[in-house]
Amino acid sequence: WAMAAAGAVLIVGSGLIGRSWAMLFASGGFQVKLYDVEPQQIANALESIRKELKLLEQAGSLKGSLGAQEQLALIRGCTDIREAVEGAMHIQECVPENLELKQKLFAQLDGLVDDSVVLSSSSSCLLPSKLFTGLAHVQQCLVAHPVNPPYYVPLVELVPHPETAPATVDRTHALMRQIGQSPVRMLREVDGFALNRLQYAVIAEAWRLVQEGVVSPEDLDLVMSDGLGMRYAFIGPLETMHLNAEGMLSYCDRYGEGMKRVLGTFGSIPEFSGVTVEKVHQAMCAKVPADPQHLAARRKWRDQCLMQLSKLKGQMPPQ
Ligand code: NAI
Repeated sequence: WAMAAAGAVLIVGSGLIGRSWAMLFASGGFQVKLYDVEPQQIANALESIRKELKLLEQAGSLKGSLGAQEQLALIRGCTDIREAVEGAMHIQECVPENLELKQKLFAQLDGLVDDSVVLSSSSSCLLPSKLFTGLAHVQQCLVAHPVNPPYYVPLVELVPHPETAPATVDRTHALMRQIGQSPVRMLREVDGFALNRLQYAVIAEAWRLVQEGVVSPEDLDLVMSDGLGMRYAFIGPLETMHLNAEGMLSYCDRYGEGMKRVLGTFGSIPEFSGVTVEKVHQAMCAKVPADPQHLAARRKWRDQCLMQLSKLKGQMPPQ
């Protein structure tokens, strides 16, 4: 098991997100070590990755230039953390979202690594200043937050600690590009990073509109899936402004006052409880009953939609 030209990557935690990272790095030709405290989790991960890669190959959706078998051969399980760290140039942490657990793990890794490796956390909402402060290798640490399911939704938010070296961010940015992901740089840490701040702004206004009886829960979701969401898969909110007038200056000139008027009518932070949560829950369950089978089937359908969308995005001629 020699080190490949592309280098070796260590995934710590072989749950949902660890498996996705393993597949993405293998698609880029990297040797991948999959570590977990639960040996059974590693076995399950390897088996589920094997099945998944086969299905992707059959569907013509496998990433990278290697076949499923070749990619699978790049991934191996590892139950010894010292051995796992050896030779890794990038370590992607994917253990449960628990600050103490992650702090403990990074302290342990900090004692095992040299100056050449990047220590990267998949955390969705823990800040780098909480995760990495005090580590000897803090300059080599950052958050690289993926979006579920990472195999079809390429965004990765790179979030530095105040002491993270710019080279750490640059190197991780390049690595993410190399495996076909779409990295964005947060220039400094902020609670929720960018994706969840946008998502929560949308959820809050969706909730208020339903709570105030302006629109039904079903129709609210259509406003996004058959409206805003259609173009957001290709252009963001700022470019939308630019295109919906004669450029950004013209948009702000024309619509700035209107935007401010509407924004001034936004309500306060919802409680996400009481009668409204009952109402929204009922509406959602009428469409997708909240039992494991129905939820899993709907997630599978969603992932198939995202797979097709990701193919389409790849096929569109650049403009
Ligand atoms: P998960 O629960 O599916 O997997 C966690 C894995 O970590 C398990 O296999 C567990 O055995 C292992 N583990 C626990 N303690 C460990 C330790 N000390 N050392 C090594 N392995 C250990 O969790 P999931 O969903 O994969 O999430 C992992 C991280 O990714 C979390 O920080 C989460 O916030 C983040 N994330 C999750 C997303 C999601 O949609 N699930 C999306 C983006 C980020």
